[in-house]
Amino acid sequence: MKQRDREAIVARCTRFVPAWAAQPDPAETFRALAERAGPRGDVYGGGESVKRLEARVAELLGKESAAVFPSGTMAQQIALRIWCERNGSWTVAFHPQCHLDVHEERGYAHLHGLQARIVGEHDRLIARADLDAIAEPIGALLLELPQRNLGGQLPAWRDLAAQVKWARENDVALHLDGARLWQCSPFYRRPLRDVAALFDTVYVSLYKDLSGLGGCVLAGPEDVIAEARVWRVRHGGRLSSFEAIALSAERGLDEVLPRMPSFVRKTKEIGAALARVDGVDVVPNPPQVAMLHVFVRGELERVRDALLDIAEERRTLIAGWFFPTPQPDVQRAELGIGAPSLDVPTDEIAELYAELVARASAPASRRGTARGASAPASAKRAARRPPTRRR
Ligand SMILES: Cc1ncc(COP(=O)(O)O)c(C=O)c1O
Repeated sequence: MKQRDREAIVARCTRFVPAWAAQPDPAETFRALAERAGPRGDVYGGGESVKRLEARVAELLGKESAAVFPSGTMAQQIALRIWCERNGSWTVAFHPQCHLDVHEERGYAHLHGLQARIVGEHDRLIARADLDAIAEPIGALLLELPQRNLGGQLPAWRDLAAQVKWARENDVALHLDGARLWQCSPFYRRPLRDVAALFDTVYVSLYKDLSGLGGCVLAGPEDVIAEARVWRVRHGGRLSSFEAIALSAERGLDEVLPRMPSFVRKTKEIGAALARVDGVDVVPNPPQVAMLHVFVRGELERVRDALLDIAEERRTLIAGWFFPTPQPDVQRAELGIGAPSLDVPTDEIAELYAELVARASAPASRRGTARGASAPASAKRAARRPPTRRR
C-alpha cells in the first residue's frame, strides 16, 4: 500500500456514508449547547440538566430510575457486579463477542472479580439452546441488542422472549448492553420501553447514535441504581460536572432520535443496493437496524488503497476502513448510518462500491485506468444482476 495520510484524506471529504466519520464542527456543537444551557451548570451530577436527562431516559425505557455515567465500560461492570453480588454467583454469561470481554481489558474480572461464562458461538446470535446448555450457577446474563460485531443483528422477538424466559426460570438477572438500543424500535415495531421491559437493567450510550459528547445512562430499579451511584463514586466516575454530557445527550434525544426510522430505512436501501453489486456482500441481509457490515472481494491493501483513492477523487468516504476477515481475499467494513449518510444517494453508493471492487481487482499496471467513466457504467451493469453470494 502507498504511504499516505489517511486522516488528511478523510478530513478533506465532504460526504460520508459511515455517519460517525463526519466529525461535527466542535464550535457549532458548543454554540448549539450554549443555547440549551440554563443559568446554573451541573455540579457532581446533581444539576437540573442531569436530573432532566436521567428522568427522560428512565421514562423512555420505562424504568424506575436512571443514572448518568462517564462510560458504558464503567456502568456495565457496575451493573453486573451488583446483580452477581445479590444473586450469590460471581459468574456472568455473555456472547463471545461481548464488548466487556473483547474491548475492555476484562475490567469485570480485574476490578470486580467476576468470571465469564461464554455462551453460544462467535459468528451467530445467542439462542435459547445455548442457555439451556449452561450447567453452573449464573449471577447475570448480558445480551447485546443490536449485536454490533455481527453487523447489528437482532434476535426475532420470540427468540428474545425465549431467552428472557430462561433467565426468569433460573433466577438469573438480565442486563441489556443497549449501546445502540436506539436503533431497535423499527425492527421490533415496538417502543424502546417494550424492549427494555424484558431486562432488569439497561445501559444505553449517549454518544453512539445520539451524537452526544460522551457518557451513558444505566436504568433499572430504584435500589439498584442507588447502589450503582455508590459504585460510580468508587470508580472515580462522579465527574465534577456532567453538564456537557447531559446537554448534548438531550440535543440528541430531541434532534437525532426522532430521525432513527429514516436512518434504518436508508440502511435497508443501501443493503439492498450493495447486495446487487458483484464482489460485495452485506451482513445481515437485509440489514435490521441503522448499521451493517459490508464484505468486499479483493486483497486488503488494494481495497484500502481503492477506498482512499475514491475518497481523494470524489471527496466521498464510503467506508471508515476495511479490516481483514478469515478469507484473505475478502475484507470487511462496518457502516453506521446516520444523518450524514442521507446526503449520498443510494445508487451512487452502489456505483462507488462497484468501482472500489473494480479498482481493487484491476491488474497493477492498469489500476490508474480502472477508474473514471467506465467504472460506474460497469457498476450499473453489476447492479442489474440478481443478488449473488460470493463467499
Ligand atoms: C456494544 C458496546 N457496549 C459497550 C460499549 C462501551 O461504551 P463506552 O465507550 O461508553 O465505554 C461499546 C463501545 O463501543 C459498545 O460498542
